[in-house]
Amino acid sequence: MCGIVGIVGRHPVSQRLLDALKRLEYRGYDSAGVATISGGTLERCRAQGKLVNLEMRLKEQPLNGFIGIGHTRWATHGAPTERNAHPHIIDGIAVVHNGIIENFAELKAELEETGADFETSTDSEVVAHLLAKYRRDGMSGQEAMHEMLKRLRGAFSLAILFQDDPSTIMAARNGPPLVIGHGDGEMFLGSDPITLAPLTNEVTYLVDGDWAVVGKTDIRIFDSEGNAVTRPRCTSTASADRVTKGDYDHFMEKEIHEQPEVIARALARYVDIAGHRVAPLSTGMDFANVSSLVISACGTAYLAGLIGKYWFERYARLSVEIDVASEFRYRDIPLSPHAAALFISQSGETADTLASLRYCKGHGLKVGAVVNTSESTIAREADVIFPILAGPEIGVASTKAFTCQLAVLAALAVGAGRARGTITEEEERQLVMSLAEMPRIMTQVLRNIQPKIQLLSRELSEFPHVLYLGRGTSFPLAMEGALKLKEISYIHAEGYAAGELKHGPIALVDEKVPVIIIAPHDRFFEKTVSNMQEVAARGGLVILITDERGAASSKLETMHTIVLPNLEEIVAPIIFSLPLQLLAYHVAVFKGTDVDQPRNLAKSVTVE
Ligand code: M6R
Repeated sequence: MCGIVGIVGRHPVSQRLLDALKRLEYRGYDSAGVATISGGTLERCRAQGKLVNLEMRLKEQPLNGFIGIGHTRWATHGAPTERNAHPHIIDGIAVVHNGIIENFAELKAELEETGADFETSTDSEVVAHLLAKYRRDGMSGQEAMHEMLKRLRGAFSLAILFQDDPSTIMAARNGPPLVIGHGDGEMFLGSDPITLAPLTNEVTYLVDGDWAVVGKTDIRIFDSEGNAVTRPRCTSTASADRVTKGDYDHFMEKEIHEQPEVIARALARYVDIAGHRVAPLSTGMDFANVSSLVISACGTAYLAGLIGKYWFERYARLSVEIDVASEFRYRDIPLSPHAAALFISQSGETADTLASLRYCKGHGLKVGAVVNTSESTIAREADVIFPILAGPEIGVASTKAFTCQLAVLAALAVGAGRARGTITEEEERQLVMSLAEMPRIMTQVLRNIQPKIQLLSRELSEFPHVLYLGRGTSFPLAMEGALKLKEISYIHAEGYAAGELKHGPIALVDEKVPVIIIAPHDRFFEKTVSNMQEVAARGGLVILITDERGAASSKLETMHTIVLPNLEEIVAPIIFSLPLQLLAYHVAVFKGTDVDQPRNLAKSVTVE
């Protein structure tokens, strides 16, 4: 989604704004721009497409000035053109905006009646026009800001420059996060602390409804009523150093290969590996005494939650209500205050997941956040935080965050099982031993399957459609495999429960449709093999992903068989994620798509 940066500095800001925008690139965007004030005049440079275009423009037409704002735009209202790119400048007021102004049409009509001439088809431009109107009415910048904010409905964060006040940036937050960074005689603004990491680690988070006047050495923060408020200053642990590709071609590739290490780190937090127990730390939630569990999330995080549902039901005998957050928040679900809720989010900023969390909190449920970003809004609003410790994930396609989410959910489900007395101490020991072996197995799998996956990927990249099938926890994994493939290679892919094959998807099967069957040799294996035979009988191209036992017992001819080591049931979905991720990655590389920033997608979805 859109990203915001701002600097009120002691030195020229243009290059630093551009560098900060580069650190926001991972969020996804389709145009970008910066504005500075120099010699009492606003200067602006914008470009459609990637930041390299903006960089070229800035070389031709450098911007001067010690104060400035910048923006990467992920188009919501209006095409991703240069004209629609931010900052929008009206009457000496420059505005960058992240989010959606829901009542923009009504505001635009009202402003047009008073003579406003709109240059863009964005919702954001109304902010600049409203401010300009209030200034013409005689208000100061601060008064205009307060009045303008009262008129906006929706989710937004804003950074604003007034040409006649070259020492101040105004900022506001109602939804998408905004962080103020404290420098040495300079102040910064950013959509997240990673943006600011090389500039400062001392940050203040604005909370929803806040707006701020940011000077070189001071900030004044106000709530929505205009009362001065104090927000704590804290030290962020975000680091820009780690956010490099290293020896890899893409962040996604690097993040796939980081999994053994980050899973080991996550496990060290949640399980006592030597004692073969779930660590007491992970029982921040009283699973023994909850009536049921509610889980909600979006995208890949939702699919991790779906696998978690199987585990909580099986090991802890807890019934789980789960839905995608965009549905959950509006379903008017009757909720018992005795239930507990888990919200899963890599970024911790996903708007629908946050709204679902607030809905559950409002119903008195104890709320846990399974998050990668412990400083995020979801983490800060939850009662209990379960960090997944995956480290910064830059590729838009989630990989290591998914497997870390699974590792944490597995540990929590086993811990819940012990707390509820639904598994024995010996069963806990066995399960923890299986979890503890994952980093080693992952390293081995990543090393061994690459050549085969590359071969298969080259072939698969020629097909327009791919089906994924699985049973049990392999069903959500089939959906995750399909999601990964479609988002980065743009091949149409669908994941189904293998048992649903005959209820519709089999109609698609012919010799032009590869069907990827995820079938560890578990209690569903025989049934999945039957489905595989149904596909083969119709000429479908079977790609089997199984383990050694499965490969030995399946006699069917396949287009390709990927063989993993034999695994315990609890770790199978985590390890089986690896071939699916690698497959999507290599297909995308063969197709030449933008692996880390696929078209139309954003890393952090901060609006509905
Ligand atoms: O930051 P979150 O985990 O809340 O994000 C949820 C989804 O937007 C995310 O998982 C998305 O589906 C990924 N692009 C999938 O690879």
